[in-house]
Amino acid sequence: MIGRLNHVAIVVPDLAKATAVYAGALGAKVSAPMALPQHGVMVVFVELPNTKIELLEPLGEGSPVRAFLDRNPSGGMHHVCYEVDDIIAARDRLKAEGARVLGDGEPRIGAHDKPVLFLHPKDFCGTLVELEQA
Ligand code: CO
Repeated sequence: MIGRLNHVAIVVPDLAKATAVYAGALGAKVSAPMALPQHGVMVVFVELPNTKIELLEPLGEGSPVRAFLDRNPSGGMHHVCYEVDDIIAARDRLKAEGARVLGDGEPRIGAHDKPVLFLHPKDFCGTLVELEQA
């Protein structure tokens, strides 16, 4: 059911420093930082030939990645995002398999203006999984 790896998200305490690591030592192509207030993050997209890395820094008081950074002060991998063709069909299949869909179970519009859902890490090998309708 899942298709391409759309991105891996890494939460960082200092977006400028993280961007410098990717652009400098790792020699990757990086975007300018973008504020996504509706998602509570500042993001830099790292473009790789086969996928993207998203460097996320908390933005605002209610940022959904703030607690993660509190638990992982030097940052860390936050989630992986897999593409699916039909997010409603994917959700219904996963619920039938007993997986927990986070929030109210309805897709939201994600950082790429496409519908996304998040799946409980305890059901997926300890990793928060985002599904994005490609
Ligand atoms: Co994501």
